[in-house]
Amino acid sequence: MRYSDDIIEEVRMKNDIVDVISQYVKLTRRGSSYFGLCPFHNEKTPSFSVTPSKQMYYCFGCGAGGNVYNFIMEYENYSFGEALSHLADRAGVELPKIEYSREAREKAEQRANLLEINKLAAQYFYYQLRREGGKTAYGYLTGRGLSEETIRKFGLGYSDKYSDDLYKYLKGKGYSDELLRESGLFNVDERRGMYDKFWNRVIFPIMDVNNRVIGFGGRVMGDGKPKYLNSPETKIFDKSRNLYGLNVARTTRKNYLILCEGYMDVIAMHQAGFTNAVASLGTALTSGHASLVKRYTKEVLLLYDSDGAGIRAALRAIPILREAGVTSRVVSLKPWKDPDEFIKNEGAEAFEERLARAMDSFMFRVHIAEQEFAMDAPQGQNQFFERCAGMLLELSDELERNLYIEAIVKEYGRYGVGTEDIRKRVNTLALKGTPAEKRIQPKSGTPETKKKESAADKAQKLMLTWLVNYPGIFEQVEKYISPSDFVVPLYKEVAQMLFEQHKEGETNPGKLLNAFTDSEEQREVASLFNATIHLENEGEQQRAFSDALLRIKEESLKEKNRTWDPSDMAGLQELIKAKKELEDLGRKRQQLHISFN
Ligand code: CTP
Ligand code: MN
Repeated sequence: MRYSDDIIEEVRMKNDIVDVISQYVKLTRRGSSYFGLCPFHNEKTPSFSVTPSKQMYYCFGCGAGGNVYNFIMEYENYSFGEALSHLADRAGVELPKIEYSREAREKAEQRANLLEINKLAAQYFYYQLRREGGKTAYGYLTGRGLSEETIRKFGLGYSDKYSDDLYKYLKGKGYSDELLRESGLFNVDERRGMYDKFWNRVIFPIMDVNNRVIGFGGRVMGDGKPKYLNSPETKIFDKSRNLYGLNVARTTRKNYLILCEGYMDVIAMHQAGFTNAVASLGTALTSGHASLVKRYTKEVLLLYDSDGAGIRAALRAIPILREAGVTSRVVSLKPWKDPDEFIKNEGAEAFEERLARAMDSFMFRVHIAEQEFAMDAPQGQNQFFERCAGMLLELSDELERNLYIEAIVKEYGRYGVGTEDIRKRVNTLALKGTPAEKRIQPKSGTPETKKKESAADKAQKLMLTWLVNYPGIFEQVEKYISPSDFVVPLYKEVAQMLFEQHKEGETNPGKLLNAFTDSEEQREVASLFNATIHLENEGEQQRAFSDALLRIKEESLKEKNRTWDPSDMAGLQELIKAKKELEDLGRKRQQLHISFN
């Protein structure tokens, strides 16, 4: 469902950006803007600005920026729809009701009922843990080092020794057998009918990112089998699209997530202060998990058990993450089995140190490969380097590949190989066209190689910033440049909108940003309206202005030259004219006076 532009704009206007952001960030007025510590990166001096006249925020440190929607989306990790309904609520705007089909309505109703049932069950288990009958279970949890606060925070519970009490409880609330069966909380058999799935276990409610209970894990207290019992997948519980702990981890402002194996790992880590830990739920990591992760971060630390199974799990997870555009590093917990044990034995500080020393995932794979070969003999060494070449061949980016060749030589140079040897080996393998393993290419294009901003780009940015900050200069500027002179496609689009707004009355950058929902784009547009250069006095201002103007025209002409079709005579005339104009402009640059007031 798409809401109309009018509604989107109405909600935006009724949520003053300074009011909204003040609820999250302490802001202090400085001139016509407010400043505070950026919530999107770590900093000690405020470079995060909120400008009421533009209804925009922009961080001069990390480049985060946008309008009030963008802020809520980025801060709360909301989708646009979620941000809209949040802000509509806040301003008391009623969004138009969506007309669902009967089928869709029933489906939505069923989901709502299942969520309700799960919530009631979670409350029921939570309550059981605190009753007389729950004493052993409570003792089990505290015996494993969990504090009361942690138990509360994760809503841990207990399913008692009666096998039909939850069933009776929920029946008492009026739910039908059919719905209860859909909840996955009950087993059904012909003889016994419906009975509770969880029996005499401590309970871990599983929440989605919006803190709604979607399923449960239950652990035996002691050595029974199976150790963990989990809710089956249901209409509201998709195991390959949810991660345990993500509801908390997503709000921690760390730039990476810690991915581990199980419930207790996550809980132990959170208790020790590592609140960015999550776990996949009794399943191996899937591409669904990876794209979920990608919504929140670009880097993951893998923290699997230090046994063979853990290593295999890490080796499987690395390419899945990479394919989703998430880089990973692998943490070693040796000599301890898992994070829970590690923290209990060595404490949080030592753990922090291990995280910092996490190994690049490519080098992790190299190390694991090394163990497969008899490295004390030439044959084994040769096979090892052949394997390395195969892995290097998977890397599509040359720079990246060279960096890893260097890293391999640095570590294994003692076997007498140099960078050239390995490069040759990679090339030979490439010619054979048989990469040892499947070629993996990150979906989101190449590893990020940030293009340096050219002077022409900067000039276009500055011009857009000035047009927004000093609307008075529009009349002058329009004489010389039009939106088509902005050669960067995104800038051109923005310029068009800005010129349009000016024609219709006044420029409104906050509104303009409504059009950009892609987070990279909106960042960039925000930066367009916040370009700065240091200007001492009016003379410098004038010079900067004429410089920018000329630079833009020059670039525009170059672009026209590049794209001019030789058979287009009229186009040629225009080109000649534009060239002459540019020369004229250059000659009278002294007269390009403009007032920035
Ligand atoms: N798991 C599961 N079903 C099992 C065993 C394990 O779903 N029968 C999942 C659980 O999410 C568990 C994770 O796999 O947390 C890791 O398993 P394991 O290492 O055996 O459990 P621990 O996390 O170490 O749990 P504990 O510390 O309670 O023994
Ligand atoms: Mn474990």
